[in-house]
Amino acid sequence: MSFLKWSEKFSVGSNLLDTDHKRLFDLVQKLYTVSQDLDNQKQIVSVLVDLIDHTRAHFLHEETLMRRTAYPSFIHHKIEHDRLINQIEAFRKNLAAGQVGMAQERLAFLQTWLCEHISKIDKPLGRWLTKNNLQDDPI
Ligand SMILES: [Fe+2]
Ligand SMILES: [Fe+2]
Repeated sequence: MSFLKWSEKFSVGSNLLDTDHKRLFDLVQKLYTVSQDLDNQKQIVSVLVDLIDHTRAHFLHEETLMRRTAYPSFIHHKIEHDRLINQIEAFRKNLAAGQVGMAQERLAFLQTWLCEHISKIDKPLGRWLTKNNLQDDPI
């Protein structure tokens, strides 16, 4: 079942950031799929760890671009990133402490966070990068 699927409406105008976002969407979708069977505990943990790794790498990517261009909303944007990292690290710690599976509301939280963050916070960054002609600059 489709839980989270990237589409053009989530494009921020940068191929590099869109590619990162598509990967994050795919990982949340995968986490949803493996979470449907609680016997998949090992896979659930492994997909969540993958999601954390890719999220960290992606945030670093955006934050490097923001620093390089002296982005005016950098602090606000970084606080949002740090909040999500704290939240998903807490999910991982709960699983490590013996919690079985990912609760539905946690999956819904990830789904909502990603869609809203991209639409409200990353899109203005994409416009700023385009204005500075850095939208497809490799890091
Ligand atoms: Fe992003
Ligand atoms: Fe972001």
